[in-house]
Amino acid sequence: MRLTVDDSFDPIPSLSHLPTVGVTAAASGTEPEAHLVQAEAPLPAGAPTWEELAQVGFEGKAGQRVLLPGQPLRVLVGIDEFSSAALRDAGATAASAVPQSTNLTVHLPAAINQAIPSDRAQLVQALAEGVLLARYRYTPLKSADESPAFAHLTLVSDQPEVAEAARRGAVMARTTNLARDLANTPPRHLNADRLGAVAERLGHKFGLTVEVFGPEQLADLGLGGLLGVNAGSVEEPRMIKVSYRAGERQLALVGKGITYDSGGLSLKPSNPMHALMKSDMLGAGAILAAMTALADLEVDTSVTAWLMCTDNMPSGSSTKLGDVLTIRGGTTVEVKNTDAEGRLVLADGLVLAAESSPDAIVDVATLTGAALAALGPRSAALFANDDHLAHLVEAAAASTDETVWRLPLDARYRDQLKSHVADLSNIGGSYGGAILAALFLNEFVGEVPWAHVDIAGPMYSDQDDLWRVTGSTGFSARLLVELAQTFTTH
Ligand code: BES
Ligand code: ZN
Ligand code: ZN
Repeated sequence: MRLTVDDSFDPIPSLSHLPTVGVTAAASGTEPEAHLVQAEAPLPAGAPTWEELAQVGFEGKAGQRVLLPGQPLRVLVGIDEFSSAALRDAGATAASAVPQSTNLTVHLPAAINQAIPSDRAQLVQALAEGVLLARYRYTPLKSADESPAFAHLTLVSDQPEVAEAARRGAVMARTTNLARDLANTPPRHLNADRLGAVAERLGHKFGLTVEVFGPEQLADLGLGGLLGVNAGSVEEPRMIKVSYRAGERQLALVGKGITYDSGGLSLKPSNPMHALMKSDMLGAGAILAAMTALADLEVDTSVTAWLMCTDNMPSGSSTKLGDVLTIRGGTTVEVKNTDAEGRLVLADGLVLAAESSPDAIVDVATLTGAALAALGPRSAALFANDDHLAHLVEAAAASTDETVWRLPLDARYRDQLKSHVADLSNIGGSYGGAILAALFLNEFVGEVPWAHVDIAGPMYSDQDDLWRVTGSTGFSARLLVELAQTFTTH
């Protein structure tokens, strides 16, 4: 008998412990309070002077904080400017100053209360995101929690729209934390079948239509890439189609959902780092999470997601090097490296998405180590066949502070993907691996405007760094929500 996990295990624990947010005109004085202060700006009543604070190294600069003992405990958090990114960071600095406290009150600085309403909404949303993202921890598999789960954020403001902006920030944080949960869950606890069940549960809760396709249906649809990657596994593959129906504009999302990437017969070496390959489904996870925010944020774009889910395992039934797979639509691909599996499952998804003639397709995937090597862990690689779409993705990324950097779809490298026996090879030469993978995907989108986001770099944080806490970052979940929001009118 195969080892299985208790069906009652919850792969999305953060949803059962959602923190709440509220607004009040005056602090209760019973829980820790944070004040965001610019250098030399007026300090709250009873605080030390700037001269005294300078002696303990607090000058009001971004990233600096000082605790003022007393009842209530107060935290002064430095802030340099009033941008969304700065507010998100300041929220995270405040929240991590009181890791043992389940509640926090943040006083909105005068500059925010006096800002024009649209700016104020953006800043307040980012502040709430920063607090709630920074206090995320993945604990369901620990016998004892180290720090208590965050429960309630109170913002002190006399402005009416602050409550709505804070609510939107909480939805955004919930979205990223959901993607984090999915990617942090070990592969035994979250295979493709369970991911399908989670999607159905989320669809029910958040007003989405969810269809889950099993192996026979995948064969009927001719998804030779997904089936070929799954061939070595004892687990069944799934394609999960998630739809949100709203406005006229149609956005299609395609996600790499490799629940564990061993490399297949091109086996990865036994390196502890490869525990991260449980997160090789973050593309699919971030898309699924993003879908759950659309109704709550009244997004007026119709969005359809295609999540291509399986693990990539070696066995007697695995796809072999030299095998040829037929992608939906008939393109044949010679598999020269079974570890370049993401592009095989995405190819099927991109063909399906393109068949529905959407206004744009965006795929998200932890696709290449080369993207991590090129840009490091702070930026995703962006590729696009359409400048306007690329700019929309860049703008969304700037607004959520999930950095993307565009790399070229350089057609001069296309010849490296030729095969003697098939239409394409699934790998090229040794250099420019992120570009080669993108060129491969480009073969399957036809003329539809398309962007590809390779999130292999920023998928994971190896340290607590403001709101980017250790573990899966959930990268791109908020970016995709923001993109769907702006796509309505652009
Ligand atoms: N999932 C990996 C890429 C990856 C590496 C993601 C590091 C996150 C962190 C992908 O399936 C893979 O193994 N790619 C190969 C492609 C190569 C065989 C052409 C790689 O990048 O080495
Ligand atoms: Zn791989
Ligand atoms: Zn992979």
